[in-house]
Amino acid sequence: MRAFVVEKYGKDGARAAEVAEPAVGERDVLVRVSAASINPLDKMVRNGEFKQLLKYKHPFVLGHDVAGVVTRVGSAVHSFEAGDEVYARPRDLRIGGFAEYIAIDVDDVAPKPASLTLDEAAAVPLVALAAWQILVERGQVKPGHKVLVHAGAGGLGSTVVQLARHLGAEVATTTSPDTEELVRSLGADIVIDYTKEDFSQVLSGYDLVLDSVGGANLEKSLTVLKPGGLAVGVVGPPDAGFAKQLGAPAFLGFVMNTLSRKIRKRAKALGVRYQFFFMEANGSQLRKLGALYDSGQLRPVIDTTFPFDRTLEALEYVEQGRTKAGKVVISMARESD
Ligand SMILES: NC(=O)c1ccc[n+]([C@@H]2O[C@H](COP(=O)([O-])OP(=O)(O)OC[C@H]3O[C@@H](n4cnc5c(N)ncnc54)[C@H](OP(=O)(O)O)[C@@H]3O)[C@@H](O)[C@H]2O)c1
Repeated sequence: MRAFVVEKYGKDGARAAEVAEPAVGERDVLVRVSAASINPLDKMVRNGEFKQLLKYKHPFVLGHDVAGVVTRVGSAVHSFEAGDEVYARPRDLRIGGFAEYIAIDVDDVAPKPASLTLDEAAAVPLVALAAWQILVERGQVKPGHKVLVHAGAGGLGSTVVQLARHLGAEVATTTSPDTEELVRSLGADIVIDYTKEDFSQVLSGYDLVLDSVGGANLEKSLTVLKPGGLAVGVVGPPDAGFAKQLGAPAFLGFVMNTLSRKIRKRAKALGVRYQFFFMEANGSQLRKLGALYDSGQLRPVIDTTFPFDRTLEALEYVEQGRTKAGKVVISMARESD
C-alpha cells in the first residue's frame, strides 16, 4: 500500500513509500483510510523530538489522526464490523494515518459522527481528545469558570474554545486580528489581539489557562490565574507526570521535573499550579465528543485540504505556520468513496 514513512529522524526524514498492509491483531480494527489530518506532533515525531520516550522503529508510517471505513476486524472485536465509518487518534507507537490502511486498537476507535463527512471527521480526534482531557479531566471546568485559551484560532485552540463554552465557562482567547471574528463565532467572550495587546495586563481571576505557546507566554499566564488556579502547558516544559504517563524510567521523571522546576517554583510562589499535558488515545471519549459534533455544540475548523499524494507538502504547510485557522486535512478522495 502507499504510505508516508519516516526513514530517519530529521527534517528530510519522511518520504512516500510502498509498504506492506498492516497485520491485524485480535483486538484490532483494520481501517481503509479516507482522510487524515496533520498535527504539529507529526513534525515532532518525524524529527525525533520524542525519541527518548516513544521508541519508534524505522521505517514507520506517520500520522496521528484518521477517518475511514472498517474493512476487517480481529477475532476479539465485536463492536465494529466491515463497512462501519470510524474515526480515531491511534495510540502512540501505533500511529500511521498517512497510509491507505491502518490497524488500530479497538479501544482507540469510535464511530464517525454522522453529521460530519469523513474529511471533516479526520480533523477532529487529536484536538478534541486533548480539549476534553484538559477541560473535563484536568481542569474540571464547570459553568461560571473563567478559562483562557491561548491561540484560539489554532487546530487545538479552536476546539478548546468551543468545548469550554459548551461546558459553561466564560472564555477568553488570544489570536491575531484576522481570526477575531472566527474565534467569537466559536464562543469566545473576550478576544485579545496578541500582536497588539498584553493579555496579562487585562485579564485576572482565571480558573484555568491553556498555554500552547510556551516560554514568556506561559510565565505570564500564571499571573492571570486566581489562587489555586491551574495553568496547563501543552508545549512544555514537561514534568514528572508526563514521564509516568509514558511509563518512562524514573531517571527521565527526574530530568523532566528538573526541566519544569523553574515554572513550578514560580507557580507555587504565586499560589497557583502548573501541569504539563500530553493527550492520550481514547475511543470512549471520542464517542462522547462525537455526540457533541452531531448536536452542533462543536464543529471542526478546517483551513485547507490536500490530496494524499501531497502529504509532505501539507506537513510543510503546517510546519511553516501557513495555516490561518484550524486544521489541515489530507484526503484520499478515491473515485469509489
Ligand atoms: N501536548 C498535547 O497533548 C498537545 C495537543 C495538541 C497540540 N499541542 C501543541 O500545541 C501547539 C498548537 O497546536 P495546534 O494544532 O493548535 O497548532 P496550529 O494549528 O499550528 O496553531 C498554532 C496557533 O498559534 C497561534 N499563535 C502563534 N503565536 C501566538 C501567540 N504568541 N499568542 C497566541 N497565539 C499564537 C497561531 O496564530 P496566528 O497564525 O494568528 O499567529 C496559530 O493559530 C503545538 O505546539 C502542538 O504541538 C500539544
